[in-house]
Amino acid sequence: MSRNASSDSRPVSAIWGGRFASGPSAVMEAINASIGFDKRLYAQDIAGSKAHADMLAACGILSQEDNAAIQEGLDRIREDIEAGRFEFSTRLEDIHMNVETRLRERIGDAAGRLHTARSRNDQVATDFRLWVRDAMDHIQGLLRDLQRVLIDRAEEHFDTVMPGFTHLQTAQPVTLGHHLLAYVEMFGRDRSRFRDARARLNECPLGSAALAGTGFPIDREQTARALGFDGPMRNSLDGVSDRDFALDYLSAASICAVHLSRLAEELVIWTSAQFGFVRLPDAYSTGSSIMPQKRNPDAAELVRAKAGRVIGNLNSLLVVMKGLPLAYSKDMQDDKEPVFEASDTLELCLAAMTGMVEHMMPNVARLRESAAQGFTTATDLADWLVRELGTPFRDAHGVAGAIVRMAEDRGVGLEDLTLEDMQAVEPRLTDEAVRVLTVDASVSARSSFGGTAPSRVREAVREARRRFLETEDT
Ligand code: ARG
Repeated sequence: MSRNASSDSRPVSAIWGGRFASGPSAVMEAINASIGFDKRLYAQDIAGSKAHADMLAACGILSQEDNAAIQEGLDRIREDIEAGRFEFSTRLEDIHMNVETRLRERIGDAAGRLHTARSRNDQVATDFRLWVRDAMDHIQGLLRDLQRVLIDRAEEHFDTVMPGFTHLQTAQPVTLGHHLLAYVEMFGRDRSRFRDARARLNECPLGSAALAGTGFPIDREQTARALGFDGPMRNSLDGVSDRDFALDYLSAASICAVHLSRLAEELVIWTSAQFGFVRLPDAYSTGSSIMPQKRNPDAAELVRAKAGRVIGNLNSLLVVMKGLPLAYSKDMQDDKEPVFEASDTLELCLAAMTGMVEHMMPNVARLRESAAQGFTTATDLADWLVRELGTPFRDAHGVAGAIVRMAEDRGVGLEDLTLEDMQAVEPRLTDEAVRVLTVDASVSARSSFGGTAPSRVREAVREARRRFLETEDT
């Protein structure tokens, strides 16, 4: 495209060019056009126009014949687009003008009446809301799929012991099932965030017109209902200029992407040779072109990286919106790409994570061995002293600490010390105290509500199925 293309040679837009003597320069056309991305709104745009035309006809603003021609014409356009027979034109700027221009070619003058009591401002606000609402509904299913595989794997590993970490330092033994169920909770909150956002989104801007409403006797309730909204938005200025629903979507998407990224990070760590906790199947690993031994967890790394994009998209739109006075500004045309990109990215990441979790192969023996390393049952010893001897916890902590130091000095694990060794620190210790030092005893003891004990994990698996998989919503 030449930057110097003469503006005079270009035709003026048939839709808004009444007051213009010449058309836009090539650069103006390039920066102004949104059709390259907003064609993704075609189904919503057509649904919005059909609802609007029906309402105009019901209110006596449009004749029944014109409405019939419009309905029929829009249906055919939708078919053409879906069959790949529609040629989108940059000259026609956006999806709204592409569809309307084509409608005019098909049905003639009646098409020109469709835009009565409407503006592209309330039109795009409506289309975009409908699109984001669909995206919110779709994500529910993807999150549920991921929760399902996490719950299945948690059930399978309800008593598989592994080290639990704080500061990425071995802390106390936990069960793998418990660890996986932690993510089920996170993704459950994500679902509820998308649900909340959907409820707030579900008011219809159509009928706000350019910004001030319209003098035509329209029925906003009718269009709102026809498009599945709870009702019309209450303020026309807000109707055309609000993009909170997109920000809500991107916020929920960003938090969800953060959860995916944390799980991805765990997979990256767990699949390293040094940890060796988990192996990813070939389908989710790649090799190295130079190092034959390598098995890289690329999918997990990319899920971790792509969280950055989703967060970036939220940031983009926040910055677009922060300086805009009421009502519509063209800046708002730049609201779509961040949302489309975030949605594509998040959906791909959810699918990749679901596949990885479903097919990952935990190394149960290695997890168990690692669970005992690093004196992970020292707290159990302290707890025993409190429980059986009435020692105050702070003192018990000191005793257990001294025993850990003894094991560390000798280069052995806690379970390798004899009762006599330990009695040198606390003479009242018994065989029973030695038994609490096993990792199985340790996890079984943590049977408080929400704890890691296998009995609790089994119960939590049942509850998670009921809470997240047997619910009605999408
Ligand atoms: N393509 C535009 C957008 O996405 C449609 C609204 C245009 N409105 C206007 N007043 N120029 O925002």
